Amino acid sequence: MTRVTPWPALDGIAYGGDYNPEQWDRAVWDEDVRLMREAGVNLVSVGIFSWALLERSEGVFDFAWLDDLLDLLHANGIHVDLGTPTASPPAWFFHAHPEARVLTRDGRTMGFGSRGMASHSSPAYRAAIARIADALAARYAAHPAVVLWHVHNEYGVPVGEDYSPASVAAFRAWLAERYGSLDGLNAAWGTAFWGQLYTAWEHVGAPADAPSVVNPAQRLDFARFTDAQLRACFRIERDAIRAHATQPITTNFMANQSWTTDLWAWGREVDIVSDDHYLWAADPDGHVGLAIAADLSRSVGGGAPWILMEHSTSAVNWQPRNVAKRPGEMARNSLTHLARGADAILFFQWRASRSGAEKFHSAMLPHAGTESRVWREVVDLGAALGRLGEVRGARVQAEAAVLWDFESFWAQDLEWRPSIEVTHQAQVRAAYEQLWRDGVTADFALPGHDLSGYRLVVVPAQYLLTMADAANLTSYVAGGGTLVVSFFSGIVDENDAVHAGGYLAPLAEVLGVRVKEFLPLREGETVSLERADGTRLTARSWAEDLLVAGAETVARYADGPAAGRAAITRRRHGEGTGWYVSTSLDAAGLAATFAAAYADAGVSASSVPAGCEVVVRRGAAHDFTFVVNHRDDAVTLDLDGVELLTGAATDGVVTVPSGGIAVVRSALPESATR
Ligand code: GAL
Repeated sequence: MTRVTPWPALDGIAYGGDYNPEQWDRAVWDEDVRLMREAGVNLVSVGIFSWALLERSEGVFDFAWLDDLLDLLHANGIHVDLGTPTASPPAWFFHAHPEARVLTRDGRTMGFGSRGMASHSSPAYRAAIARIADALAARYAAHPAVVLWHVHNEYGVPVGEDYSPASVAAFRAWLAERYGSLDGLNAAWGTAFWGQLYTAWEHVGAPADAPSVVNPAQRLDFARFTDAQLRACFRIERDAIRAHATQPITTNFMANQSWTTDLWAWGREVDIVSDDHYLWAADPDGHVGLAIAADLSRSVGGGAPWILMEHSTSAVNWQPRNVAKRPGEMARNSLTHLARGADAILFFQWRASRSGAEKFHSAMLPHAGTESRVWREVVDLGAALGRLGEVRGARVQAEAAVLWDFESFWAQDLEWRPSIEVTHQAQVRAAYEQLWRDGVTADFALPGHDLSGYRLVVVPAQYLLTMADAANLTSYVAGGGTLVVSFFSGIVDENDAVHAGGYLAPLAEVLGVRVKEFLPLREGETVSLERADGTRLTARSWAEDLLVAGAETVARYADGPAAGRAAITRRRHGEGTGWYVSTSLDAAGLAATFAAAYADAGVSASSVPAGCEVVVRRGAAHDFTFVVNHRDDAVTLDLDGVELLTGAATDGVVTVPSGGIAVVRSALPESATR
């Protein structure tokens, strides 16, 4: 039995990025390693897109340049995350196997000259990835520079779904396995509707573009199948590597920026979770999206430290307007990931490319070279991370959980839903952002998880909810938890069929309420809610006609299509409390409602000033409190300990300048030492 090392064998926090030196003359490599040392880089990802350079034709390998590179890095004390290059098959592969190209939903065959364009179901592709992964692992498993394996690149991006004949055949086999019989398939998909009934397996296809909307149950299954096929490809490579190597194996996720992979399932396949995160420049509060990505990465790995595999030093090159990071923003982003559980901070990429599609993307070493702000900040960040080595392994403390279920997401965001304004992403963001503003650190979780460790569980968008998961949420509340459920949750079962008993029926016991009718609002329309004390709240997009049976009405609709009827309810169930919010509250409305739920849950919203985030990582002997100040002015907090970036004792009070960060090491609270 081979033993797997749980974390890459290197000291301190890992720092570095994608390194693609095959684009440069050998002389440049020497300069690269010299500058890496200057910046404190200790880990680089190599070979991610190098298939054509490593396997010149089928089975004919050229490893000389990679041998040379790994030896050079090792000689300079720089560790290697060795990639398998399977996101970018060579031209010769597609020439020999044109059938391995992806066919899109609208019937277009993807061409060459880019990346990520092979069919995950193609037997030729699967054979080829096994061959290259095996060859790389056989050669480099024992190389002393290699501390981590990086399989593929961002599974499911830029294309995940494939409608090629190989994929359709595999989909049929997957369905036969899932349903056992055509009768089972017909029942699950509800094919009696619109005359879709199948009488032979060969009639069953992928949900390609059709004159009108395609059966949503079929589309949901195709999403599940796509995820399963991508994971099967990962396993082929992982197992080929594991046959030779003992280093941990990962693949870089795209947490909340890619939708084709069920990261809960992927989290069980990798040894360490790694994630790529890029700010969405058009979002002035992009740091909230960053926090979501970081918390999701940590959560799908069960709370263990994770690797920030890629982010950017400044602008990316693929958004409509690629806004450069402001001075200090890169460090703030990096240390926020660290605060939320990352023990490795890496970038795309080390040296800016002169040619090709990504030449306008920022890098650790920009085109301008070392005489640049970005380079100076890269060197400073390396030094800062060098002072934070003792944080490694400490676990983020979270009192709350937000449910995030990829299957529900896939189902909810299909066509012909009651309102295009109601999306999984927007609902999660609104709920999470309220917790963020209140300084409540949250994990993400599935509705079937053991939630008993959380005081508060927020359910912003659980459109698809199985009866078993609903029972789990009900017993969570019975055992003392506080549950806050948002509109458009508990609507359908695992086949996208509306629950018997109607909307919200699976949660009727715990919430004491059901939905009689959805009442979506027109674009721009708002409704007012009135609370028992007469205060008013505002909401948009959505209202509902509720049947209240056993819950207390906390707020009523004051106007709009449900005027006079219940809008927000609360019910004691067992030892806990179930809240239901039937509309899309604005920030003030969410703040007021969450504050009341915190009181039920015993969650103390932090006293941190608005625009500041505070996250605690707990180590064996200390707490590490991260304070990230996004405000235009300095903030002062009561925190006793040593500020690790400066090395100075706080004397009870830490002041964090505008845009700055503090990391305070303090003694564990008594409750943690008992
Ligand atoms: C990532 C990708 C990298 C690079 C980067 C640019 O999605 O993995 O290879 O393209 O985007 O932002």
